[in-house]
Amino acid sequence: MIIDIITIFPEMFDGILNNSIIKRAIEKEVVKVNVLNFRDFSKNKHNKVDDTTYGGGAGMLIALPAIVDCLKSIKDYDKAYKVITNPIGTVYNQSKAKELSLKDHLIIICGHYEGIDDRIENYVDEEISIGDYVLTGGEIASLAIIDSVIRLLPDAITKESIEDESFSNGLLEYPQYTKPSVYDGYVVPEVLINGDHSKIESFRLFESLKRTYLRRSDMLEKRDFTQEEKYMLDCIKLNMTFDDTLEYIKEQKKKAKKAKRTCIKK
Ligand code: ADE
Repeated sequence: MIIDIITIFPEMFDGILNNSIIKRAIEKEVVKVNVLNFRDFSKNKHNKVDDTTYGGGAGMLIALPAIVDCLKSIKDYDKAYKVITNPIGTVYNQSKAKELSLKDHLIIICGHYEGIDDRIENYVDEEISIGDYVLTGGEIASLAIIDSVIRLLPDAITKESIEDESFSNGLLEYPQYTKPSVYDGYVVPEVLINGDHSKIESFRLFESLKRTYLRRSDMLEKRDFTQEEKYMLDCIKLNMTFDDTLEYIKEQKKKAKKAKRTCIKK
């Protein structure tokens, strides 16, 4: 994948591109990231890229020529998927990150606190906001986008760590613990210590559902559930413990089996 970033503050990208998973992905050639300073494309003798606003107003606005010339300098820019960061855009989420990670070539134009001439929308496929708050510029939004996209690329990190994490299955991730098993009076749930794998799997599903129900019930509205998950959710809503939930599910399964047998006999 190729990612081109168009910005007026290229130095803001140094940290993220030179550290951890992103750095490794670049070294492994999973992704190539180019950061372009559109000020370099200004034809003004002082390298000015902004101008006064038509219709009046106190502030200045980033003008189109330098940004668009910068965009057009990118090889095959017309075939790339082009986005601009903007608080009025579509709100970003994990499924948009997945969608962008499937593109061969992504160009991100960083919005700017002064604003950009609105006709920039004719040069992009999509405007993206990273949340309902206003940043001083689009660089932090772009950083969030490239970080979340690159980690999803094949070979950037292990497939398993992506499959289990929050949002990947429409639920928040279950809690995890490491040694010591008791710290400052806080204990690791017993079920995780005794090594019964199928019980641990159920416990993790139960905790994922519980967290999502308590913290992000909006996510549950968008998801389909297995019969087991439905039983678990019923128990979570009644504030039942995990052990009582397992008992309840066992009983429900027994009842369902008996009902099926009676049906067949009839
Ligand atoms: N620029 C300023 N605020 C932003 C936001 N929330 N998302 C994307 N770009 C922005």
